[in-house]
Amino acid sequence: MADNPYLIYLAQRLTPARLQHSLGVMQVMEQLAPIYGLDPTTARLAGLTHYAAKELPLAQMIEIAQMNHFPLNDPNDRDPLYLHGPCSAFIASHQMGITDPLVLEAISRHSYVGDGLVQSPVFCGCLRFADILEPGRDWDDAHNKLHPLFFAGQMGEAAHELMEWLVPFLENMNIIPHLTQLALRRKLALLYAVGATETSRDQIPV
Ligand SMILES: [Fe+2]
Repeated sequence: MADNPYLIYLAQRLTPARLQHSLGVMQVMEQLAPIYGLDPTTARLAGLTHYAAKELPLAQMIEIAQMNHFPLNDPNDRDPLYLHGPCSAFIASHQMGITDPLVLEAISRHSYVGDGLVQSPVFCGCLRFADILEPGRDWDDAHNKLHPLFFAGQMGEAAHELMEWLVPFLENMNIIPHLTQLALRRKLALLYAVGATETSRDQIPV
């Protein structure tokens, strides 16, 4: 692992805490791979590299966004909290040489920017959950609620519970949820309302 070129790249650009977080996300992706039918190598790679642009200056993130025509309509689109996902996918592709579209898509969408269809809702969903459930996070209430569901393979119910936790969590910190998060919360609330019919993993909105 020490000679992994991706790890070397990240170690030069992320704080030790964020590098540790990335390794934790990688570890959870590996655990999720057999549960959700992911290729373990691909899963680990997405976990390790999902923060590739996390510490870029905001001006550079905006520059990447403008260059790639990322949507910058809403004030939240310019917030690094949301913008780091698509920017990390750009860095993973253009600086780190990662070409796997599943990895790039999941990195891009993990910060809830973008609302189009994805190739793999399952892979994208796993990265979002690995980001929340990695061992370094200090979010016991979310972990206790989400871990059993997600590790039991119940991605849809877990996604519903995640949004019911995440939106109030952001609001309590005076962070305005992204419009895509609010829309996703509404979709999942409808899908997982009492009496709703079962939803296939491939149809779970991301
Ligand atoms: Fe993360």
